[in-house]
Amino acid sequence: MYVIRKSNLKSDKLKITVALIGASGYTGLELLKLLIVHPKFEITYVGNSEGGIKVEELHPSLKSVFSCDVLKSDAKEIAKVAQLAFLALPHKTSMSFAKELLKLGVKVVDLSADYRLKLDTYEKYYCPHEDKKNIPNSVYGLPEFYREQIKDTSLVANPGCYPTATLLGILPFCEFIDEKYPIFIDAKSGVSGAGKKCSSKTHFVSIDENIFAYNPLMHRHEPEIKEKMKIYSGKNFDINFVPHLLPIIRGEMIDSYMLLKEDGLKPLKILREFYKNEPNIRIYDHPVDMKSPSGTNFCDIFAKVVGKKLYINSTIDNILRGSSSQAVANANIMCGFEENLGIPIIAYVP
Ligand SMILES: NC(=O)c1ccc[n+]([C@@H]2O[C@H](COP(=O)([O-])OP(=O)(O)OC[C@H]3O[C@@H](n4cnc5c(N)ncnc54)[C@H](OP(=O)(O)O)[C@@H]3O)[C@@H](O)[C@H]2O)c1
Repeated sequence: MYVIRKSNLKSDKLKITVALIGASGYTGLELLKLLIVHPKFEITYVGNSEGGIKVEELHPSLKSVFSCDVLKSDAKEIAKVAQLAFLALPHKTSMSFAKELLKLGVKVVDLSADYRLKLDTYEKYYCPHEDKKNIPNSVYGLPEFYREQIKDTSLVANPGCYPTATLLGILPFCEFIDEKYPIFIDAKSGVSGAGKKCSSKTHFVSIDENIFAYNPLMHRHEPEIKEKMKIYSGKNFDINFVPHLLPIIRGEMIDSYMLLKEDGLKPLKILREFYKNEPNIRIYDHPVDMKSPSGTNFCDIFAKVVGKKLYINSTIDNILRGSSSQAVANANIMCGFEENLGIPIIAYVP
């Protein structure tokens, strides 16, 4: 039975009250869909940049399902009604809200890049940081690797979509990779990865029946992958990352190629052992596809070794595991709930 809830912007004392800023965006809509039916989170504030509209006018798919006013986002007002805020905002905008919300005692899950990187890396690839103080307090929200730290933090930096799928595939192999040789990462994403604003590249006429690389070897997710691999393994890998845009709405596939120190490695055995207690990682003995994890928080992974060559193939739903469902999983952990509470496990297939 589908749950139909009209305006419920009143706090239920048994639930954690949550705010969503950036409700008109793609990740914002996915967050709404997850939070409306979440058994332990109660949406008490929904905002975007201007407000003055009903949520079902922003997203007609929510008509007769959920209704509330969308407000011009204001951190002080959020702090009056919410214990935790999801920031589905562009980088730079996020930090201005996070800074104030954290000061007012609101926990934050930030979907932007603002707290993902070390300060010098961030400022090199993004912009000057306006909340340096909170960077060391943030935890990178990849639960398989940082679950214990996420439990105790007030600020989660939700990982980038490409880094999520890439790191989940590569990190288990760090000790076996020969760091003398470069790692090549070929990535592909659906167009929702670029956000709702249309550009000449994401225009229907440019992308339909087409595929192209963008920002080859210069994409901002390259330093994120490199930095997280360094933190995890202590090694400085040479990362070469090329993303491509596909004429599909959602989904992401990563193909990574690297050389190992020795031959004879059994990659599927390593992955199965590494992730044996992880419900959101599925290991396949054949190459993975984008549809199978679509609509879920799964990351699907396949790997193959020929001699010293290692190939890793991983897929996720960019607006769920790559952002919104991972954000809800992180919020669940921060609030002491079961990690997968309220997160769908059945894919959008066919
Ligand atoms: N799309 C993905 O697959 C994906 C994956 C991982 C991470 N992310 C990250 O998640 C964040 C959101 O991405 P998205 O794709 O959902 O972006 P989007 O579709 O462009 O939506 C951005 C949202 O931010 C709101 N916003 C912008 N400036 C604001 C302000 N000053 N005050 C309040 N709200 C403001 C917009 O509201 P208005 O409509 O009022 O402008 C809109 O709701 C980004 O940092 C992105 O890099 C995205």
